[in-house]
Amino acid sequence: MDIHVATTAANAVAADAVVVGIFKGSRTDGFEGPAAALDAALGGAFAAMRRDGELAGGAQETTVVHTLGKLETPRVVLVGLGPRKDLSFEILRRAAAAGCRAARRAGARHVALALWRPELAHLGIGATHAGEAMAEGALYGLYEFKKYKSNHESNGDNGKRVEQITLLGEDEAALRHGSERGRVIGEAVNFCRDLGNEPPNVLTPTELANRSRAMAETYGLECEILEREQMQELGMGCLLGVAQGSAQPPKFIILRYQGDPGGAPGLALVGKGITFDTGGISIKPAANMEEMKMDMCGAAAVIAAMQAIAGLKPKINVTALAPATENMPGGNAYRPGDILRAMNGKTVEIVNTDAEGRLVLADALSYARAHHLSPIVDAATLTGAIVIALGNVRAGIFANDDDLARQIQEIGEEVGERFWTMPMDNDYDELIKSDVADVRQSVIRREAGSIGAARILGRFAEGAPWAHLDIAAVNDFGSARPYADKGASGIPVRTFVTLAERLAK
Ligand code: BES
Ligand code: MN
Ligand code: ZN
Repeated sequence: MDIHVATTAANAVAADAVVVGIFKGSRTDGFEGPAAALDAALGGAFAAMRRDGELAGGAQETTVVHTLGKLETPRVVLVGLGPRKDLSFEILRRAAAAGCRAARRAGARHVALALWRPELAHLGIGATHAGEAMAEGALYGLYEFKKYKSNHESNGDNGKRVEQITLLGEDEAALRHGSERGRVIGEAVNFCRDLGNEPPNVLTPTELANRSRAMAETYGLECEILEREQMQELGMGCLLGVAQGSAQPPKFIILRYQGDPGGAPGLALVGKGITFDTGGISIKPAANMEEMKMDMCGAAAVIAAMQAIAGLKPKINVTALAPATENMPGGNAYRPGDILRAMNGKTVEIVNTDAEGRLVLADALSYARAHHLSPIVDAATLTGAIVIALGNVRAGIFANDDDLARQIQEIGEEVGERFWTMPMDNDYDELIKSDVADVRQSVIRREAGSIGAARILGRFAEGAPWAHLDIAAVNDFGSARPYADKGASGIPVRTFVTLAERLAK
């Protein structure tokens, strides 16, 4: 996708559609900015529509108006921005996304976005920020995963594609600067979504490793893939235990970005990479099991975040660790009752083979500690319990460091990936006591399932500031939204990238 910046006025641009923003207003309210200019050029058409109860300006509401030869552009897409006082980066990002989607539905190939002007800077959004929000939103909104559809007719969009985006505005240099960052982040987020959406027969641990290696070559990152024998040498008994029921070989994916050569080992981003979770011997019910192809979204997020970090070049060292395997009930599968030993020497009593994520993470966190990486942040579609607690609106943060948790939650609010910090009292350890091993694999009586899982992870991250993001549910949109197709969401790529930048010198 080409993204350009131009200072052309909205009523003079020769795009197939121009997207303008309108704030929430009543039937008698006028418009401002490009919407007002276009309304005047169209003889008050928008004002008339508003009097009739249309164009109320609710966030992400879109209306396509044909200009019948009166303007350079054949159509205007009016997109709601919600109440003026609530304008934010996220509102702008979603407006760009929803506007582009509406323009594509109307058949536009070249879409111009006129969503920002300098008068809006006092609402807290400058030109650079606006350029970023619009570019990222456009890429985000236009994303679709249709590669396995044989013909366009069955796509629902008749094969319509947007090929060019032009951001309109006065401060050209700032808009361009911001849009470049938005493109880097947007492309990384969409890479994450592609990995999440791929079917599990295609995206095996081997394929995830291959795509990581290809990305690393393109973006100049170091990539190391540990094979089963190397995991054995390192004593990664928990990851190997999960992997032993699958015919697919496990891969331990390592990506390194050296932004501060000679500096501290730096940030570790750790992601759960279960390319399919059947539950193993403690097998899951059949209903919705296909959703477990996305049990590698934590891994996808850390791999994709590295792509954006390589593009943005913050002054910090960052290592991504993605333990990848299937969780299958093969003849050699691990069993409830087994005791596994992680790389850091601690033993885990297995009680339910469906609690596999914490096991693969145990070895990855041990690896991060052995390499003195700090802080450590992991993302995992870890527990059904967090889906019950927070739904698909917010992801849970669990941390051994309050400052790190606060920083992540704050960044999340800014970039539009929402989190909520959950309790981590020592008292919860009552739930994960084992009579035979150092720790029990999952809580007794299903109490506080997400906290118990996080407390287990904490045993392997011990000694470093660490935060765990339980992204089960928010990793997948389930159904389409005005600003996004259904499928993988790309959360929390933007938080990871922004965190790396904030921790940089
Ligand atoms: N991958 C699942 C968690 C999950 C559930 C993700 C729903 C997305 C949507 C995880 O491996 C799992 O199965 N967790 C179990 C743990 C239990 C057996 C202790 C759960 O939460 O039910
Ligand atoms: Mn599971
Ligand atoms: Zn799982």
